[in-house]
Amino acid sequence: MRILLIDDDPHILEGLKRMLSSISAIKQIDACLSGKAALDLAKTTSGYDLVVCDLQMPQLNGVQVLEQFRTSSPGTIRFVLTGMIDHPLHHAALRLSHQMIAKPCRPEILRELIERALRLKRHLSQSELSSILPRLQALPSLPKTYRRVMDYLVLPTASCRGLSRLISEDIGMSARLMQLANSAYYGKPGKVHNPVQAVVYLGMRTIEALILRQGIFSQIDPALAARFGASALESHCMRVGCLAKRICADLSMPAGLLEQASIAGILHDTGKIIMIAEFTERFEQSLVKSRRDHIELIAAEKQICGFTHAELGASLLSLWSMPADIIEAAAFHHVPWLLAEENAPTKRPLCLADTVYIADCIDHRLCSSRSDGCTFGVLEAYLERYGLNQQFCQWQTDHLSVLKEDLCYA
Ligand SMILES: [Fe+2]
Ligand SMILES: [Fe+2]
Repeated sequence: MRILLIDDDPHILEGLKRMLSSISAIKQIDACLSGKAALDLAKTTSGYDLVVCDLQMPQLNGVQVLEQFRTSSPGTIRFVLTGMIDHPLHHAALRLSHQMIAKPCRPEILRELIERALRLKRHLSQSELSSILPRLQALPSLPKTYRRVMDYLVLPTASCRGLSRLISEDIGMSARLMQLANSAYYGKPGKVHNPVQAVVYLGMRTIEALILRQGIFSQIDPALAARFGASALESHCMRVGCLAKRICADLSMPAGLLEQASIAGILHDTGKIIMIAEFTERFEQSLVKSRRDHIELIAAEKQICGFTHAELGASLLSLWSMPADIIEAAAFHHVPWLLAEENAPTKRPLCLADTVYIADCIDHRLCSSRSDGCTFGVLEAYLERYGLNQQFCQWQTDHLSVLKEDLCYA
């Protein structure tokens, strides 16, 4: 793995280099004192796996540098280091990077974030996706409403009221959001009466994920959507988002992760939508093989397509600069145990991929659709390892009653 560090402060660069040199997966670390030097170096060096860039630099700032990296090397993971959270460039950097890190950052935290990002990169590069990625970049395009909302959200003056005004212009979208905010999944049936309340209640970032998901679904040909039960898949993604959030709260994970869990759930099967739209026949063969041979759908996909819907979705979310833990959750939502090194002596802390994995297993078990392969329950050993058996039963019982209650998705 090759890393490029960019910072105009030589002391910070030295410190970063020293700290990262002990990560065994990193084979090469290059460092540049300016954005220009970094872009020049990147032209002569083939592909970095990860770039860590300071935000405030003279001449070319971090946003300008990362913009170039996104265009010329979309597969490179982009981290931003910033000293000021309210800096005017902050919002643009948020859109361009997979991870924003506040300076000063504790070395073990930065180290952990980088190790996780590299593990994800390695995981994705093991599939045959790299050969189809150049094609993937052209599809599907980011939905129009999503672009408008994104443009709005980067404004320092962005507000819930402004966002809801924007959404109200799209009648279908606002109807869907109201329906969701009033669904039993979010626990407020019949209490949300207008888009402003919906935005306040669901949160701006969840709205962002919903618009993205809605936009991707709407690009599927209606005949294909009917053939693969896309609307059931869409409902499944919503339910997994809600349940992942609940699990996240029950596990006392940091409050900041709650909305992220919801987004990760909403977007976890993005790859299936792309499979249906772009790899239709092979996806269908995978579904048939999974059910006939009683193997996991991802195993069948790997054999027939060379990659899984989880890897495909994660790659797409990465190209769209989604946050690193959302991409990680999409990539590992069927295999969260791969997030730790094999035979690791201590168990790693639970993360978003775990909440999505558990929520996905519960929902698949209780409610199946035409885009599902053979369904397996959650791994007993996994629940045991984390002591989650009892909570798992409770989540399942509660999810069943929510499923029954909620008429929106019946
Ligand atoms: Fe999945
Ligand atoms: Fe799923």
